Amino acid sequence: MAKHRRELLNTLSPSTARSEGMISRDRPDAAKKVHIKTYGCQMNVYDSRRIADLLAPIGYAETETAEDADLVVLNTCHIREKAAEKVYSDLGRLRLLKEARADREMSIAVAGCVAQAEGAEISARAPVVDYVLGPQSYHRLPELIARNARRQGRALETDFDVDAKFDALADSFGAAAGADDPAAFLTIQEGCDKFCTFCVVPYTRGAEVSRQVAAIECEARALAARGVREVTLLGQNVNAWRAEGPDGDIWGLGELCRHLATIDGIDRIRFTTSHPRDMDDGLIAALGEEPKLMPYLHLPVQSGSDRILKAMNRGHAAEAYVRLIERIRAARPDVAISGDFIVGFPGEDETDFNATLELVREVSYASSFSFKFSRRPGTPGAALPRQVDEAAKADRLARLQVLLEAQRVAFNESTVGESLPVLFEKAGRNEGQLIGRSPYLQSVHAHASAQLIGEIVTVRIEATTPNALAGRLLDDGQHESKPA
Ligand code: SAH
Ligand code: SF4
Ligand code: F3S
Repeated sequence: MAKHRRELLNTLSPSTARSEGMISRDRPDAAKKVHIKTYGCQMNVYDSRRIADLLAPIGYAETETAEDADLVVLNTCHIREKAAEKVYSDLGRLRLLKEARADREMSIAVAGCVAQAEGAEISARAPVVDYVLGPQSYHRLPELIARNARRQGRALETDFDVDAKFDALADSFGAAAGADDPAAFLTIQEGCDKFCTFCVVPYTRGAEVSRQVAAIECEARALAARGVREVTLLGQNVNAWRAEGPDGDIWGLGELCRHLATIDGIDRIRFTTSHPRDMDDGLIAALGEEPKLMPYLHLPVQSGSDRILKAMNRGHAAEAYVRLIERIRAARPDVAISGDFIVGFPGEDETDFNATLELVREVSYASSFSFKFSRRPGTPGAALPRQVDEAAKADRLARLQVLLEAQRVAFNESTVGESLPVLFEKAGRNEGQLIGRSPYLQSVHAHASAQLIGEIVTVRIEATTPNALAGRLLDDGQHESKPA
């Protein structure tokens, strides 16, 4: 794989991510502690797990606080301005902590997309940082730590060599915490070639690269062996994944999902994030036919205005997206659709914004993420004329979110009275309560024994709460056990 370097200048925020519960699993032989803070998307959540795996064999156990750590890793996100700025304010706090340390040393690593985009700036603005590692070069952290231990100074690693990274990660996979989670992420595709004019990802993550089937299968089997029941396949354009299958044909994501569905122990498969342009017939058919594929699809559209979609370089019209959703629903009628939206892209006027509202009404979303356009240095969108003022962006975002929220609530209410299979993932806030996910990725809580964590249990949905569903286990306690 050729090494690419793409240059960009500046920052973001995540928020499409499920928040990651930090697990601290003390290793008796671990002499040191690492605290990993994750910002941004699910791919960063996955990378943080792998960073923990890389560090475990060299003696680092995870800890939940920076105060307690010998090494702090900030795994950063550059997508919107606020997230990147957050990194610098966190670094300010860490500097004070590091300076106040009398008893032992503390090292700081900045990984992720801000490291990739602003490596040199981080070194200049925050001399407290010891290591700067991009999303395709963090596997070199143990080597850098060893080098630094011999006092060879600060290190900056921002190569794009995805194959070398995954090869290196394979050796330590599963070495650290996370083993107890019944749901896990698995990155199958990296990078992006789409170059939407608002977006930093093609610069921070590099070109589109698909992992090989054998490597993905091996990781999925390792997850199943650890008790994982649900795997979410990750990629910035996950449905652009393509690779040669064991039969010698070129497979798309549909074939890959069907193949992974044959693994015993893996009962649920999800994938995110899909791009409308890469939603091929094979994948739509798999969604309709493969029962282990969950009926939930995150398919961002960003805008309902053709003029704005063109200026964003999304590569499709609004109508094509609506027709695509119809085809997906024809194949899998109960599919819950989720989307991302940006308001206030340069040149967007009220007519364009109304077209977005119209599209949202036509599609009807079960969940969504919506953002004010953030001007990202180095992207074409940042330099466009007719930037929309902040007040108009805030006003449009509020109006869009009223509509999207009403749709989310309506979707949740439509599941009240249904009996849904729920994969219980962890204890809830109240005594005796567990929290899990429905097939539609809704959070569901119910009173249930802690022994049911990791089980898929039929739950009768009785009510909606602001952010979840409340349910009751069916009297006969029906559930599909994990294999012994
Ligand atoms: N690959 C995915 C999106 C990844 S970024 C896709 O194409 O759909 C996640 C979301 O962040 C995007 O869908 C978009 O809604 C939002 N986003 C990206 N860049 C942004 C920017 N400059 N300003 C505001 N939101 C942005
Ligand atoms: Fe960004 Fe567009 Fe690529 Fe998504 S498809 S990561 S929005 S450039
Ligand atoms: Fe952020 Fe990088 Fe993910 S910019 S959204 S962490 S790919």
